[in-house]
Amino acid sequence: MSNVFELGFLGRTRELRLDRLPVMGRIPEWLTGTLVRNGPGTFDAGAERYRHWFDGLSMLHKFSFSGGQVSYANKFLDTQSYRTAMQRGRITYSEFATDPCRSLFSRIQSVFSPTVSDNAKVSIAKVAEKYMALAETPIQVEFDLETLRTAGVFTYEDEPLTGQMTTVHPVYDPEENNTYNLVTRYHAVSHYRLYRVGADGGRTMVGQVPSTKPAYMHSFGMTKRYAIFTEFPLRVQPMALLLWLRPYIENFTWEPKRGTPFYVLDRHTGELVGRWDADPFFAFHHVNAWEEGDDIVLDIDAYEDNQIIDAFFLDRLASATSALPFGHLRRYRIPLKGPRKGTKNGRIQYETLSDECAELARFDTERYLMDGDYRYVYASSINKTNPNGFYNQIVKIDVKLGKAWTWYCAGHYPGEPVFVGKPGRTRDDDGVLLSVVLDANEGTSYLLVLDAGSLAEIGRAPVPHAILFGYHGEFFGGAGV
Ligand SMILES: [Fe+2]
Repeated sequence: MSNVFELGFLGRTRELRLDRLPVMGRIPEWLTGTLVRNGPGTFDAGAERYRHWFDGLSMLHKFSFSGGQVSYANKFLDTQSYRTAMQRGRITYSEFATDPCRSLFSRIQSVFSPTVSDNAKVSIAKVAEKYMALAETPIQVEFDLETLRTAGVFTYEDEPLTGQMTTVHPVYDPEENNTYNLVTRYHAVSHYRLYRVGADGGRTMVGQVPSTKPAYMHSFGMTKRYAIFTEFPLRVQPMALLLWLRPYIENFTWEPKRGTPFYVLDRHTGELVGRWDADPFFAFHHVNAWEEGDDIVLDIDAYEDNQIIDAFFLDRLASATSALPFGHLRRYRIPLKGPRKGTKNGRIQYETLSDECAELARFDTERYLMDGDYRYVYASSINKTNPNGFYNQIVKIDVKLGKAWTWYCAGHYPGEPVFVGKPGRTRDDDGVLLSVVLDANEGTSYLLVLDAGSLAEIGRAPVPHAILFGYHGEFFGGAGV
């Protein structure tokens, strides 16, 4: 690699435990709790290298806040995938876009006895009162918040674990104290299944939608009454996954003629309410969704097509002229009493909320999850005048007025900005944004604390190494300090 941000993809982050990080500026006294962020700790296994940003072996980074101080610890997630890769010095399990090298014999064997990676590298959530590292593969890994040690595993469905995938974005319903997620079960006729997980860990399959050629879906929409499965035209022939002749995501093909159907399920009864179709688009992330009269409204971080996935191959990112496609916040409106599938001109419409690039979007979920009164979204972004390379700024978007503000510092690469609201707040953006930033000039990373209202820097806490570019984190108030 030859880019200034190459440190975000290179090497192997060492494990540290530091009781007190230096603080430049200040950390608000009211900020009490722990941010845990997931992502790759290395893209190397011996002499072998993973191919894509969504591969790599999971490492947890923990920043704990108390009384204006910050502690830090990081640790590889102790999984079978990690241990065997380190012991054998090679890639041992299939990931998103990388397969292990296999002889013809072992390739045939793997068709009948494939193994599922437990490398839960993508996101963090509290599910059934347990802290979990989440993967799209079916094995979710529980960890201890204090030690970051692996404490168990969770699956939505029982054996066989092969032939099922899930999303890393379960949605918690605080009124029910239940968590919902989408599980895709691949078969001759595949099914998108909605699961409900109770506080005791009990799992219920609420409802399902059949599909002969299922889509890659990284998240789903949820309102107080409905779950919405957005079936992007990035589709796979289930038999291709069964044979598994190429890495997972390379079995999917872009088929824009299919458009993008939205399936709406009543998440209390499991009934399929209906299907509404939109023009083709792709997204990783549903941001928020709610009901408005007879409409369902969904804010989605959308792309014209699936090129963003190819743009994240490490060899593409290494190019000095690489430029990521922009994701844009779109607002889709499903008229529940309006035209459905097959009606002329019945395609549902959207408006673009901002022309700023947005990805890894966050908002005040504590107050506005499933509530259309929300106003601000915070996201990783790309500076329009410095668009080459990787995500290099944080954007704040007013989704009511379409205005946007950015935090940008040349040579600094901020990750997902996690909003933490000030206790007792009355203003929508009264709180802070926490983001792990790579300072490419210094070759180290730091935890950035921004005022969510003004996007001004309040403080930063540097760590003594570079942290590879990760994906999602979560803040647990009052926990693990
Ligand atoms: Fe995600």
